[in-house]
Amino acid sequence: MAHLNNYAVVNSIQSRYSCRTFQNTPISAGHKSELLQFIMDHHTGTFGAKLRFQIGTIKSGLAILRRLNTYGFIKGTDEFLVGAMTQSIDGLELEEFGYVLEKIILKATSLGLGTCWMGGTFRKSVFRKMISLKEDEILPAVIAIGYPAEKRGVADYVIRGFVKATRRRSWDKLFFLEDFSTPLIKEEAGAFSTPLEMLRLAPSASNRQPWRIVKNSHGWHFFLQRTEGYQDQAILKMTDKADLQRIDMGIAMCHFEQTLNEMEMSGKWHINTPQITLPNDLTEYKVSWVPESNSV
Ligand SMILES: Cc1cc2nc3c(=O)[nH]c(=O)nc-3n(C[C@H](O)[C@H](O)[C@H](O)COP(=O)(O)O)c2cc1C
Repeated sequence: MAHLNNYAVVNSIQSRYSCRTFQNTPISAGHKSELLQFIMDHHTGTFGAKLRFQIGTIKSGLAILRRLNTYGFIKGTDEFLVGAMTQSIDGLELEEFGYVLEKIILKATSLGLGTCWMGGTFRKSVFRKMISLKEDEILPAVIAIGYPAEKRGVADYVIRGFVKATRRRSWDKLFFLEDFSTPLIKEEAGAFSTPLEMLRLAPSASNRQPWRIVKNSHGWHFFLQRTEGYQDQAILKMTDKADLQRIDMGIAMCHFEQTLNEMEMSGKWHINTPQITLPNDLTEYKVSWVPESNSV
């Protein structure tokens, strides 16, 4: 399908999965240059976060990395997509990081590449060097990238099974009408049912799906419902670990908006806290998508 972004969004969202077993074939020069060009054209966030991305190879380090937690599960590629951003805790920069990097991932998916977000424990020093991380920058996550192996490895099944990757929360747990006590039924979402369904398919750290969306007459309001005990905020501040659930939110925003763009439905992101009672203290307002026409 012809599209602004030069790839079919819904198709990419539906075919993407966290690929952990690759073919051991380097990314072709053609695919790499197409992806690098895409990165050059799409590296800025909606709210102006300063982001940088690079594709790099870890040759000798992989053996060491293998021994380190998550990397043990990545087989058959030594290529990684690495992102850096200027540190900030107050704005929506981490969300924007997730948004932009997921856009790049969907483009990569359309080229037949497999990807896997890696936000858990990873050896930052190796990737810091790869992207020449500056003093005021952080490296929130990296993406394993390459051609997927024909047959998925045992690790794919183990991890996917472990985090229940193929499972997503049902509509009534994620989408609401006016307030958090009224679930939004798919049939009532009208033209928005596809963008919401595409949001539901978004990847998230440990498949926690921390996004909640409330629709009212002003627009679609995005809330982050943190998982209790998951990544204690105090610990995050003390270590240099990124707040992965904020990245998850950005990924969800990407799936939602990119699908809307593909459907030629236009609108804008605004930060304007709506008068909606929060269901608990784990939930916080993030951002709203407001359509250009009055019809929501
Ligand atoms: C921010 C983020 C961090 C992630 N970190 C890891 C990781 O460290 N290791 C890993 O194997 N998978 C990681 N994942 C992949 C998720 O486990 C996966 O997206 C989720 O289980 C849903 O499965 P799917 O991507 O196949 O749809 C991460 C995903 C996101 C969005």
